[in-house]
Amino acid sequence: MSEQQHREEQLTERVVESFDGAPDPRLKELMQALTRHLHAFAREVRLTEAEWQQAIGFLTATGHITDARRQEFILLSDVLGVSMQTITINNQAYADATEATVVGPFFTERSPEFALGDDISGGAPGEPCWVEGTVTDTEGRPVPGALIEVWEADDEGLYDVQYDDDRVAARGHLYTDADGGYRFWAITPTPYPIPHDGPVGRLLEATGRSPMRASHLHFMVEAARLRTLVTHIFVRGDKRLSSDAVFGVRDSLVKDFESQPAGTPTPDGRDVGNRPWSRVRFDIVLAPAGAAA
Ligand code: BEZ
Ligand code: FE
Repeated sequence: MSEQQHREEQLTERVVESFDGAPDPRLKELMQALTRHLHAFAREVRLTEAEWQQAIGFLTATGHITDARRQEFILLSDVLGVSMQTITINNQAYADATEATVVGPFFTERSPEFALGDDISGGAPGEPCWVEGTVTDTEGRPVPGALIEVWEADDEGLYDVQYDDDRVAARGHLYTDADGGYRFWAITPTPYPIPHDGPVGRLLEATGRSPMRASHLHFMVEAARLRTLVTHIFVRGDKRLSSDAVFGVRDSLVKDFESQPAGTPTPDGRDVGNRPWSRVRFDIVLAPAGAAA
């Protein structure tokens, strides 16, 4: 080993050892592994002092733009795939349970409640979309009374929380019926960019990456004794499925949103006017609470 290698390795070991006495064993494990990986990164890329300064400037800007409404650190974790990796680790594959994906920053508590078959769009602009399916457990048993929260962007790419008034639109919750079935009207999902007017947007720009998310409709499903599922469904055929800015796409979550020409009768007889609409089926399977692989 060269003198240079020896100095670098000795430094890493000294920092690792500095956490030996941490009273919380998990904190010790996290800090020691973080130290090893950060040092390995700096050594691998032969990090220059100017580059480290630039990285610190970037993190400082990320902090400055973050407030109660804008969380740039989560966005950074999202575009680096760390959010999705953490979700993957913590929602272990179990039988045919539906896969989880990122929650994103636009979920809100206390969404309006709807009856089965209602329209959750709240007047948000977009093509009407009939969404239906069932909630079952991994034994195929229907789950009655499961809470389903849904939220989505309008066809201009905005969530209601991004409107400049207090309107609540394109979000809501409802409960499955005695057979575990659910159905509602929403709007056909369209692609939209993640917030990209800050440091994370500049990072994407500098690296030639797109801020666009593939079109999707968010779901959160909760039922007693079953693992809460946070997921979305994506639109088959969307050209952004392979370049989703936050790596949220799973093949199993890509669904057929079948386009219906204007004048096609609707499943519940609703008059949607003389315009096209779409329909999608999403059967949701929940793992047992606490399920491991
Ligand atoms: C979303 O799908 O709402 C979202 C997810 C991650 C970052 C930004 C938006
Ligand atoms: Fe979204």
